[in-house]
Amino acid sequence: MIIFGIDTSCDETSAALVEAKNGNFRILSNIVFSQINVHKKYGGVVPEVAAREHIKKIIPVLEQTFKNFSKKTVDLIAVTNGPGLITSLLVGIETAKTLSYFLKKSLVSVNHLVGHIYANFFNKHLSAKIFPAICLIVSGGHTELVLMTNYEKFKKIGQTLDDAAGECFDKSAKLLGLGYPGGPEISKCASKLSITNYNSLKFYFPRPMINSKNYNFSFSGLKTAVLYRIKKMNKKQIKENLPIICFEIQQAIIDVLVKKTMRAAREYNARSIILGGGVIANKKLREKFSAQCRQINLPLFFPPKNLCTDNAAMISVAGYFKYINSKNRKKFKENWRNMKVNPNLDI
Ligand code: KG4
Ligand code: ZN
Repeated sequence: MIIFGIDTSCDETSAALVEAKNGNFRILSNIVFSQINVHKKYGGVVPEVAAREHIKKIIPVLEQTFKNFSKKTVDLIAVTNGPGLITSLLVGIETAKTLSYFLKKSLVSVNHLVGHIYANFFNKHLSAKIFPAICLIVSGGHTELVLMTNYEKFKKIGQTLDDAAGECFDKSAKLLGLGYPGGPEISKCASKLSITNYNSLKFYFPRPMINSKNYNFSFSGLKTAVLYRIKKMNKKQIKENLPIICFEIQQAIIDVLVKKTMRAAREYNARSIILGGGVIANKKLREKFSAQCRQINLPLFFPPKNLCTDNAAMISVAGYFKYINSKNRKKFKENWRNMKVNPNLDI
């Protein structure tokens, strides 16, 4: 089965062709056009600009995706219908609906966050043995802990009460005069230091809700702590201390994410941990999760870096599972008539 996927939820225009065969997935093409350069000068994503860029880029991205493949090979179309920016989502949805109508192929809507989890399913070691799994989704707009009990069964057990982890990276980077997106910038600057000895720390930023009894998160306090701390410093001091500030911001975020996820895994008797979303591209975060899971012999899955950030290949896989697990597959044939976007779509 070949699944054509589209994702335009935020600032990446992406389309992909994925082959599903004998329970394995293979990417035939996965084209991602990033708008980072357009939004960089504003220090964040401007929704109106993002939608216009999607409109400009969607046809070139489709052309690239089908460069070596006929549209006739497509068996199923999967598209992100939320959460995300409403005008960005609309570009993907309307494109997918038009293709579904003309190609006469079934159309499945996909939750973008669930898509981030399915980015792991290209890994051949992933089988039904991994369930129940505790999934951590950390992106620019979301930080969620999800219990996955089967291929298509999810239950949210916790989420951020304010800023997402990625947002905390992005906003802290902006305060420090670093570029957008902030996660890779902070990580790059922090990597100038190699601190193994915690006595060298200077700032001791807070780790909000790290010991709270629930699975929720909060990162706005950390961002505010960074703001207040650097307000007391002059430009020269900030510049001199930039690597250690970045190191400590990164460490505070990682400590909270890892501790709460490991606790959830323990309390739910999880047989694996699955990570997904842009922040999972962070090297230190991957290392800390790997070390902790190794210690207790718990299987850990995270996607390769290019599948951590937004892409349509993960949407294709998510669409496949939704389709094959449906009791009424016929209904997807007519989905082009009434599929709607939902910018606040929940898991
Ligand atoms: O999943 P994603 O590509 O888009 C959303 O769905 O939001 O995630 C983007 C987020 C941004 O906040 C970005 O700063 C963060 O992922 N990010 C990182 C790294 N690479 C991307 N955060 C920390 N370290 C990284 N290496
Ligand atoms: Zn995303």
